[in-house]
Amino acid sequence: MSKDHESLERDGLFGAGATRRGFLKTASLVTGGFGLFGLAPGRARAQSDDPENCTPPASPNPPVPFTPDTSQPVLPRKSAFDLTSSDIQLLQDAYGALRDLTQKNPEDPRGWQQQANVHCWYCGGGQDGEAGPEIHGSYRFFPWHRCYLYYHERILGKLVGNPNFRLPYWDWSDPSDRTLPPPYTNPNDASNPLFDQNRGASPTDQIPAQYVNPTYMQGLLSTTRWQVFMGTDFSAGNVENGPHGLVHIFVGDPTLQAANQDMGILATAAQDPVFFAHHSNIDRYWDVWLQQGGGRTNPTDAGWATQTWTFYDENSVLRSITAGDVVNFQQNLRYSYGGAAAATDVAPLLSISSQQNSTLGPDPLTRKVAVPGAVRSRLLSAAESAPQRRSVVLHIEGIEHAPTQAAVVHVFANKPGATAATELSGKNFLGYFAIVPNSLRQAHSHGESHVVFDVSNAVSNLLEGQQELAVTLVPATAKGKPENTQITFDEIYLAAE
Ligand code: C2O
Repeated sequence: MSKDHESLERDGLFGAGATRRGFLKTASLVTGGFGLFGLAPGRARAQSDDPENCTPPASPNPPVPFTPDTSQPVLPRKSAFDLTSSDIQLLQDAYGALRDLTQKNPEDPRGWQQQANVHCWYCGGGQDGEAGPEIHGSYRFFPWHRCYLYYHERILGKLVGNPNFRLPYWDWSDPSDRTLPPPYTNPNDASNPLFDQNRGASPTDQIPAQYVNPTYMQGLLSTTRWQVFMGTDFSAGNVENGPHGLVHIFVGDPTLQAANQDMGILATAAQDPVFFAHHSNIDRYWDVWLQQGGGRTNPTDAGWATQTWTFYDENSVLRSITAGDVVNFQQNLRYSYGGAAAATDVAPLLSISSQQNSTLGPDPLTRKVAVPGAVRSRLLSAAESAPQRRSVVLHIEGIEHAPTQAAVVHVFANKPGATAATELSGKNFLGYFAIVPNSLRQAHSHGESHVVFDVSNAVSNLLEGQQELAVTLVPATAKGKPENTQITFDEIYLAAE
């Protein structure tokens, strides 16, 4: 258990129901579930491909530890919008070969379906959500996906006989790149190995700018705390909870309401080739964040760097690899992108909502507290006093929601009249979170999300001339208010960290 978690428990502010799971487990059976998909007219979806069981094939031998292949050149991963026609051809050939491998030999651990199942296995292991380990909703998220993409990249390169193959990334934060990248939709049918039948987003649908614009991304990157950016042992970081989840939901349902496979469900997400371009961008943002310096570091918890996972490599050899192995990705994994804060205790300063299991329906909900003078000065001095400036962080704990639906929630301070139409900017907007369920069909398992926003820059504005602090949670879709949201949450509080 991390230090932060202990100090929160000491202060009695950490909910009894807190778990290590971050992403939500869907909680009831979907029967005859296709009626729930809300299909756009004229668009056919394939049969449900949410796997019952995604256990990886057994290896005849124990895993061989990862070693860097330094005979390979370090080559850039490029934007999926900047690929040359020969890059596109290579990418399509590689995914074509990966799909063929599954046809020829479904048991080959490198094949398309087996590759997608690796992701399913590491988000709970299929239908019951309990079989496999869970790497989402925690600081395992960044390093695990880096390892996964690395072996995926090696396999693709091997299948086309080109070890110089590198995955592209989809930078949805670039205002001109908010549609699916063209190679994945052109042609937009099964003749294109990068096409996926289970997509709700059309080639021209754009991710709503408010969720992914450069200013919003700057805000996420501004925190110097790994606990906020990368997450902790028991909570997700701000990119995982925000744009990462939002883009998943968007590809499944561009109106941001339904949890539609493939991308909108973690168990099926990696059955869409665009998953790997999306995660390459997430991986790039990890590097962008660290490159800013200013005390930003990878998690310093004992045990973060040594956590170990296994993957099949391009020769079908089972490998073990650690988070520490992939920190220096240029040196060890042979790709690049163009382009130490000591852990301190969390001191909870102000509880804004202490009720367990509060319910958030489709309408906005506001919780208010008076801010006593002493607390106010502690908050202001935490955020202001250089050089020992600490971060002021808003926590929302124990978030759970109903299965089969995605959820996007906008968070405002001192704006009790906020609605789904309220602009996501200005001093009262703190951020948003997007929830992607793990599976359509998990019967008996619950999980929770813990969301954090670094509000250090906003806090003096928010407290100016105010005796109270109000936090408003606003469920939203791309079209405004959702029809039927059902979210519960536990404590909301501010802490100096
Ligand atoms: Cu492993 Cu984007 O999820």
